[in-house]
Parts: sequence; structure tokens; C-alpha cells
Amino acid sequence: MCGIVGYAGPDEALPILVEGLRRLEYRGYDSAGVAVMDGGVRVVKRAGKLSELEDALRDHQTPITGRTGMAHTRWATHGAPTDLNAHPHLDCRGRIAVIHNGIIENFQSLRDRLAKAGHRFISETDTECVAHLVEEAYRGNLADAVREAVRQLTGAYALVVTSAEEPDVIVGVKVSSPLIVGLGKGENMLASDIPAVLQKTRTFVPLAENQVVEVRADAVRITDLDGAEVPLSPMEVEWDLAAAEKSGFADFMLKEIHEQPVALRDTLRGRIDSLGRLNLDDLRMREDQIQDVHKVFVVACGTAFHAGLVAKYAIEHWTRLPVEIEIASEFRYRDPVLDGHTLTLGVSQSGETIDTLEAIRHARHQQSRVIAITNTVASSIAREADGVLYTHAGPERAVAGTKTFVTQMVALYLTALYLAQVRGTLFPAEISDHVEEMQGLPDLVKRVLSLDDQVQALAERYQQARDVLFIGRHTGYPVALEGALKLKEISYIHAEGYPAGELKHGPIALVEPGVPVVAIATECHVYQKVLSNIQEVKARGAEVIAVATEGDVEIGRVADHVLYVPRTHELFSPVVVTVPLQMLAYRIGKLRGCDVDQPRNLAKSVTVE
Ligand code: M6R
Repeated sequence: MCGIVGYAGPDEALPILVEGLRRLEYRGYDSAGVAVMDGGVRVVKRAGKLSELEDALRDHQTPITGRTGMAHTRWATHGAPTDLNAHPHLDCRGRIAVIHNGIIENFQSLRDRLAKAGHRFISETDTECVAHLVEEAYRGNLADAVREAVRQLTGAYALVVTSAEEPDVIVGVKVSSPLIVGLGKGENMLASDIPAVLQKTRTFVPLAENQVVEVRADAVRITDLDGAEVPLSPMEVEWDLAAAEKSGFADFMLKEIHEQPVALRDTLRGRIDSLGRLNLDDLRMREDQIQDVHKVFVVACGTAFHAGLVAKYAIEHWTRLPVEIEIASEFRYRDPVLDGHTLTLGVSQSGETIDTLEAIRHARHQQSRVIAITNTVASSIAREADGVLYTHAGPERAVAGTKTFVTQMVALYLTALYLAQVRGTLFPAEISDHVEEMQGLPDLVKRVLSLDDQVQALAERYQQARDVLFIGRHTGYPVALEGALKLKEISYIHAEGYPAGELKHGPIALVEPGVPVVAIATECHVYQKVLSNIQEVKARGAEVIAVATEGDVEIGRVADHVLYVPRTHELFSPVVVTVPLQMLAYRIGKLRGCDVDQPRNLAKSVTVE
């Protein structure tokens, strides 16, 4: 949440900062602002999307020049999205500027104290108190003043600070929220996420917890909160700029839906040997440790949670281990029973979702072994877990997760089968059969993409719906949840996902003539029961859109519309079935004129609790 970018180098900072913001806008788009060291600190900020800031910069009477600067795109927490509340925030003399991602939990008491001491506040944000704290602590060294300010803060945040007194340096600090340093040649950058620095470099250093960085054109110095220097450990990112572009597609979401076959293939690559056995050394678990697992927990949020739900069916079926899946924000507040025999899987595209990060911290604290399933190399969750399995989906810019959802499921299937392989709960031949089936998924997804014309026709018919219900049983249930989440976040139509058998316990009261019900009705051991549930809603006037297996004639007799998808093993079917639901949400969102890449009120990476 909130995008941060900083630059120090020989080039004009402003265009680099704006370009960085453009690549980070998915992190928040309520307002945006820049601060450039141009004599003093020159700040321009505007409520609204980045284009508002760009207009303001174009209209600016005196051009802003300077080779050091920082910029911010905001997802509002404290204070409405207005010009005044936009970042950067300044101290009393306008000499120190601060941008911030996260929440300063004790800001009110700090603000009261600082105001009493004579500091002038002009915004409603928690961030502004940091500018005044740094002002108070400044004695000729900005990094020291930031350290001093941080000692007084509680919360989870990343901060970047500049000062007119030291115009060649930007100082960053990471306390739970992400911050990376992009290492260039004679120029360096600071950002909350990799896409912002790709314009200059693919080499980066992720900051660890409680580290402070001083970024200059010709030097990067990382220290801890006591000022002790920490050696740099640079890493290379595989992504290039093209991977983060729309490449001819109308929107990132559409591009990312179409990238799913490649993303699935990349996630499977290198993890299966020629005999169909799995090789998951990345999990960093010895065989005896895997044998010793008595229970598995899965923690995640949103779409990643739905992938975790699918994993529960697979892990329990293949390993006979009990699995508990929990929304990450609830997990650590209910005192779950964890110990050295539990394995916790933290699933997160960004690897920075604070709820999931805190949940895995809690699990580790209770001696559980933790494995991260994430798309983001060196993210906080990846670094804090004992082992990590990366989904190789590439950068996902649309706020709605699509390609990362299908790759999360595949990474979780791989994990489940690997546990089964080591624990001997499946025969080797069964594992290689499943592996072979999984390797066919990219082609099946490619075939599903050709349903677009049919999906478009359905979207036109149902674009004005007030409510849409999604129902499914077994693995069709998480798919129903995911289909409903996609539709509501992209089109703002009220949608709910339910276990199909649960409808008659209450939600069926919502069904009235004409209400669209999307039923996941692919071949599976509960298929006949799903058909009965479809009959129940039909009897009450619902219009049923079924997603069914190719060749199924029975479904045509009960559903109003059928989207046929290729046959696959029922545990793998969510990968295939989800795709037409993503397309339906996308097409309806477009017809309703919604900004499908940046839906209202949302941000891609949720770094506040
Ligand atoms: O980065 P994460 O996978 O941890 O994100 C979790 C959720 O915030 C995310 O899946 C969210 O639900 C998306 N908007 C879904 O499209």
C-alpha cells in the first residue's frame, strides 16, 4: 500500500520519479506527490490519480529541476485523499520532507506533544508527525535524525526522508513495510517495489527489518538502528521492463489473464525430474522434518486465501495430514495451536501483505516451520520463512490477482505432492500421473481463453445485475468465492460465493426471478449434488450460468447458459474453471466503464493491518 520511489544520480530526477510512480500506481492511487531538491525542497502534490499530478507539474510556472528527489502514490489511511493530505509532508520550515507507507500507530500522542512544543500541523495524516520529529532531532546528520525519530514511532511502516540541508542524499528506513534499493552505475534508487527501478537497473538490495539506508548518486550505505554498518547483498531480478508493460493489451488485467499459460509453465519448470518425481529443495525441509509434520496450517488473504482453500483439499487428500486454513488477519488473534510438528504455509503474491507476514511471524514464534508461497523474490514473507517456493508468474500490475492465483494453486499442488512423495502416502506412479496432468494445465488454460466471445455475450446480458451468486461444491467452492471476489472488485456488482449445499440454509432467500447464479458444475464426485442445487435455484427463477466439463449434455438441460471447459482431475479443475470467471468479471467491468486495473478503494499490496 502506497508506492515510494527515490532517485539520486546525474539525470533530472523528476521524469524518473514520475515514471517510477507510474509503475507503482497499483499500490495506491488516491493522490500522488513529488519532492525534488532544487535549491530547497520543492514539493508538488495532488489528490487523485497520477495524471492529476502530471497535469499540475506541466502547469507549474517554474520548471522543477534537480538530481535528487522522491515521490509517493497514496492509499489513504489517516485523512481523506486531498491535496493537503497527499505526501510528501514537510516540517515547520519546509526544509525536511517525508513520504511514508504504513501506519504510525502512536501518531496522535506524538502530534499532541509536538503541537504543544510549537510545531505547526497542516494535514490530518499520521505521516506529518515524522517530518516534525526529524526536524526536532536534526543536528547536522539526516540519517541520525531519522534513527532518532524512528525510536519514538510504533507501527509498521517504511519512510523516506530528504532535507534541504543535505540535498544529495535520501534516507530510507524499513520497519515491516517493503523498501528496496536499486543499484545503478553512478545513480541509485529507492522504491517500495521492483518495477519502479527497472527503468535504471535490475540489481537491487532488499532492506531487512529495522535497517536505515542512505542513498547517494555514488554510494549506498545501509546501517541498523544503532548506526552499525551492514554489508550490501545485491540480487538480480529476472523481470525486464517489457514484462511490466501492457504489450498491446487494453489493460494489465487482460494481459495478465492471457499470460496464464506461460505463468503456469514457468511455475512448473525445473521442479520435476525426468522420472516425474518432484524436486523442491527450495522448501529447505529435510525428509525427517517432513515426516515429523502432524498438521498443516495455511494463512493468506483474499485471492491467496482462495488458493489456500484449494490446497486444503489437495493436501488432505494426498497426504492425509489435517489442514487448517485461516484468513491471516484472524489467525494470530485466536491463539491457534501450533508447535514444532506443525507446518505453516504463508501464501502471498506480493510477499508483503502485513496480515500474512504477521501470521507467519506468529507461527514461527510458536515453533512452527514456515514455508512461503510467493511471487516476489526477497519479499519480507520470503525472507522470514524457513523455505520458499516462488510462483514464477512475473510482475502482476492489475490490482485483481489472476495469473498469480492459478500459479499459487499450482505451487501448492507441487508442495502437497512433494509432502506425499516424502511421506509415502502416494505411490510414485500416482505422483507422476498427477505431475503429468499438471503439465497439461497450461494448454487447457489456453483453450479456455478462446471462450472470450461467449463470455462477452454473457457480460452484455448480465452487466446490469444487482446481485450475482456463485455456487460450487468441493473445489468448486473456493472457485465460487474467487469468481465472486473478482466480479465485485472489478465491476462493483454485489456478488457472493457459497458452498452450493449451503444455499438452502439461508442465502437462497436472495434468489428471485432473473437473479444470475454462476454454478461450478464440472465433473467431480459431487456433480449430481451440484445439479440438484442448480435445480433448487432454477425453481425460484434464477438464471443459471454453468461452468461444466466439455461433453456434458446433462448440464444443458438445467442451466440457461453453459461455458464448457476441458476435462481435468477434479483437484486441478480450479485452475481451468477460474479463467472464464476472471474473463466474465473483466468483460462486465469494462462494459460498466470501470477502471479494471485500478478499482476504487483498493491497492495491490496491503501493508497496513
Ligand atoms: O499479495 P497477497 O497475495 O498477499 O495479496 C492478498 C490479497 O490482498 C489479494 O489477493 C487481493 O484479494 C486481490 N485484490 C484479489 O484480486
